[in-house]
Amino acid sequence: MIIAVFLNVSSRGEPNALSITQKPYGQIDGQDVHLFTLQNQNAMQVEITNYGGIIVSLSVPDKNGTVADITLGYDSLKGYVTDSSYLGALIGRHANRLEDAEFELAGVTYDLAKNDGANHLHGGFVGFHKVIWSAKILEDNSLELTYFSRDGEENYPGNLDVKVIYTLTADNALEIHYHAISDKDTVVNLTNHAYFNLAEHNAGDISQHQLRINAKHFTAVNDQGLPTGEIHAVENTPMDFTTLNSIASGLDSDHPQIVCGQGYDHNWILDTKGWITNKAAELYEVTTGRVLEVYTTKPGLQFYSGNFLTGTEVGKSNSFYPKRSALCLETQYFPNAMKHKHFPSPVLQAGQEYRHTTIYAFSIR
Ligand code: GLA
Repeated sequence: MIIAVFLNVSSRGEPNALSITQKPYGQIDGQDVHLFTLQNQNAMQVEITNYGGIIVSLSVPDKNGTVADITLGYDSLKGYVTDSSYLGALIGRHANRLEDAEFELAGVTYDLAKNDGANHLHGGFVGFHKVIWSAKILEDNSLELTYFSRDGEENYPGNLDVKVIYTLTADNALEIHYHAISDKDTVVNLTNHAYFNLAEHNAGDISQHQLRINAKHFTAVNDQGLPTGEIHAVENTPMDFTTLNSIASGLDSDHPQIVCGQGYDHNWILDTKGWITNKAAELYEVTTGRVLEVYTTKPGLQFYSGNFLTGTEVGKSNSFYPKRSALCLETQYFPNAMKHKHFPSPVLQAGQEYRHTTIYAFSIR
């Protein structure tokens, strides 16, 4: 069955004939999974599945009006079930790394899955990217996904009600609204792990992309990709994206931080002060003229240059995604913040609401 909802006004109030359609996308353990297609009048289309809240495709026009899918993914649900790179997925309960796969809260130590060497990464083996979310099409052009993460799931404390709302606007932005509430003190750090290649999902090497990040500092990492607690200035380092800069020279640099991260895989400390109106980052691809601007209320941004993509799994349209064929701009609390008390805290107190927004806004130049 295909359900179509046609609406006249976007969340930003501009006239917009947007449609959301829903179709079956397969089954997991007898449970139906769906694929939702969000479209606007400016040729932008986003496909999202309620398995892992995954962005399956994101298609936008280039400077000649040619529409292409610019996020990595698979042709069917099966690809996402076996995926180990988090392509397009919602990440939780805690995005990125927690050192020694543990954290301490109110004198209790919680042991988590060691799914990244001795450390914990992206919520564990069955993080929010590997579960089925409940889906609802809202009247304001949005797709609402909800998930109940029970007390003790992946050993995190507290029953957590999570809600993520994806909204496609008339002016080619994808808004992601994150909410969560717990009945016990817990940690929450939600993000989306879309891999972008602004030339097209299968266009290969992204080193010619140009990037600006609104940040004068980043959190330095050790050779396990874990923030050590040190805060470094970006000035005079390959981490300086205070002006729009090609990422190519930095990727090949022998700067110790690039060597540790095997490329870019670091958290930048945003100078946006949590204001959604302050631009956090901008990505530009010169041959197509596509621009992606990132806005967020969160304090950090993980720029990951796809260093661990292997090119072995078959992606969409029989393509392969080798190392550095896409990059991620993951908005977040800083990785390993439970070990470094001077970082903003990802602790969510019982009964308080976790509430954040990230906007990926697309345009051409
Ligand atoms: C994040 C991490 C990376 C890597 C990817 C997924 O960006 O920082 O080190 O784990 O996710 O492969």
